[in-house]
Order: sequence, then structure tokens, then C-alpha cells
Amino acid sequence: MPFPIHRPRRLRQNEQLRALVRQTTLEVKDLVMPLFVRAGQRISRPIASMPGQSQMSIDFLLAECLELESLGIPAILLFGIPETKDDQGSGAWDENGIVPQAVRAIKEKCPKLIVITDVCLCEYTSHGHCGLIKKVGQEFHVDNDPTLELLAKTALNYAKAGADIIAPSDMMDGRVAAIRRTLDKHHCEHTPILSYAAKFASAFYSPFREAAESPPQFGDRKGYQMDYHNADEALREIQLDIDEGADMIMIKPALAYLDIIYRAKQQFNIPLACYNVSGEYAMLKAAAQKGWLDERTTVLESLVGMKRAGADLIITYFAKDAADWLRQIPPLCPTE
Ligand code: PBG
Repeated sequence: MPFPIHRPRRLRQNEQLRALVRQTTLEVKDLVMPLFVRAGQRISRPIASMPGQSQMSIDFLLAECLELESLGIPAILLFGIPETKDDQGSGAWDENGIVPQAVRAIKEKCPKLIVITDVCLCEYTSHGHCGLIKKVGQEFHVDNDPTLELLAKTALNYAKAGADIIAPSDMMDGRVAAIRRTLDKHHCEHTPILSYAAKFASAFYSPFREAAESPPQFGDRKGYQMDYHNADEALREIQLDIDEGADMIMIKPALAYLDIIYRAKQQFNIPLACYNVSGEYAMLKAAAQKGWLDERTTVLESLVGMKRAGADLIITYFAKDAADWLRQIPPLCPTE
């Protein structure tokens, strides 16, 4: 037997030792809960492909926010579903649209809850694309530059309604700069921007598109969202958003993109969020419902994985459940 015998297991032999050397801890303060708001009263419409999640009218949304606050969840990410859609996505930039209304109500009821508003046109456009559409020859293209103005207008209305953080998810080039400029010009210079900096064209968004009623009516989003074969491009996108004034950055989705989270955290010293998206939620929920996986342990393992990769914040539909589970975990030190 060679000497010494290396025994990494020495520090794994009981819970106290394991806790002592644990490097990554998931905390409730790391979690952001996405919520869907729609017009009406006493509406809670379940989203079939996202068991446990619903579209809510503002009254129900407020009750949910109070619950999240009582669990210690620091922030929500808000999406709106408008009553009508048109080719300009006017419901997004309407001062009295569903999101500004909801933000005003939440800030009155739960002033300490951080409200992050997603900024995009896709929930509001009749064609379901994230920007304006123009015809080039026989093809339809997303018209980048004229879209910027509408995104900036949307962001400004959200900020004026009281949103604490603006999160553009559209992936148009130059949108962070356009939003920053507009916010600054209208006395919202203190409102931070969390940019969906590296957002990949992912099949894992499909339950969300049911939730937000936003599937593209033709084509796909590959012309503006990123190709998942590329990692360097993600770092370039992040650099550009930081240069344009992003205060925080996001990687999306999370589970199949842990390498991007890791590299981004190594390269950029800026708060980093990852989005554990709808399809990632749906697959664990479905397996748990079938009894094939244990929900609590698999969810916590995945969320810790995202933190270990380098995420400071995790946007997840599991936020509420995870907050509850984290409270129930027995104290790690017996004298606590
Ligand atoms: C809007 C947007 C999407 C998601 C967040 N913001 C959908 C998309 O880009 O198609 C997806 C979130 C999720 O799947 O949970 N652009």
C-alpha cells in the first residue's frame, strides 16, 4: 500500500463534516420567480405544460406576491399577456398596458419586492415575433432598428410605473444602448438593466410560448436568438451588452448552458443571472409526476449546479417550491 493513502472520503463521513467543507450554498435570496399577468379579475388560468404555474389577473397576482415575499424571495420577473395583439405590439408600449398596471399595484402592496419586467414585443405582436416585421423580397425579416424605439418606449413605461429592473429579452442589436439612453433622458437614470445577453434559440422555451401565448406565427427566432453551437459568440454578445450599459447579464437557458455560465462568470465581473426556463421546469415536473424522479432532490441539485457554475441569481419557476424546501432543510449544525 503506498503511503499516504489519500482518503477524500474522510470529509464525507457525516453531515457535519460535509456541511463544514461545502463550497456552494443555494439561498432563497438567489431566487427570482417569473409570473404571468393578464387582464380581468379573479382569474388564475393554469398553464397545461407548466404544472403549478398560471396566468393570473392582478388581484391574484398580488396575493401570490405577498406569499413570495413571506417566503423571503427577493424578486419577481413579470410577463404580460395583453387583451389584443397587433403587428406593432402596441400593448407592450401602452402606458396603461397590463404590465404597467400590474407594476403599480405590486409596488403599492409589496414595496420591497423587486419587480423585474421583461421587455419584448413577442407577447404583444399578432405575428409573435420579438420585433417589427418587414418584407424583403419574398421573405419576412425582423426589422432591428425601428424596433429599438418601441422597446425603449416599453422600458420607459415600465420604469415610470415603478419597475425596479428592466430586462430586455428581444435580442435586437443595440437595444441595451437604446433603452439606457431613453431611461436616462427621462429621469430614470437609476433604473438598472438586466440584459438577456446570451439568449439561445432553444426548444426549451415551448411551454413558455403556451404560457405567454406568443409562438411565432411563421418562421422561427433563429435570426435573432443565438445558435446553440456557439460559445464564443455568447461572450461577445455579453461584452457588447456591458459596453452598452447593462448592469447585470443573463444566460438563458441554464441547464444545457452551464459552460456558458461558467465562462461568463470567469470573464466578466458583473452580476450574472441564469434563466432556468419553462422546458427545464416542465421536464422535471413531468418526470416527478410519473414518479420517475424525486422532485425536491432533483430540483435542488439542478439549482445548486447553476450556482456552482457561477450564477449569482437563478430565475426559476421552482423559486417558490425551492424557497419552501430550503426552509425545511434541517439545520446543518446540530447546535444551531
Ligand atoms: C420573450 C421571452 C421568451 C422567454 C422569456 N422571454 C420566449 C422566447 O424567446 O421565445 C422564455 C422563457 C421560458 O421558456 O421560460 N422573448
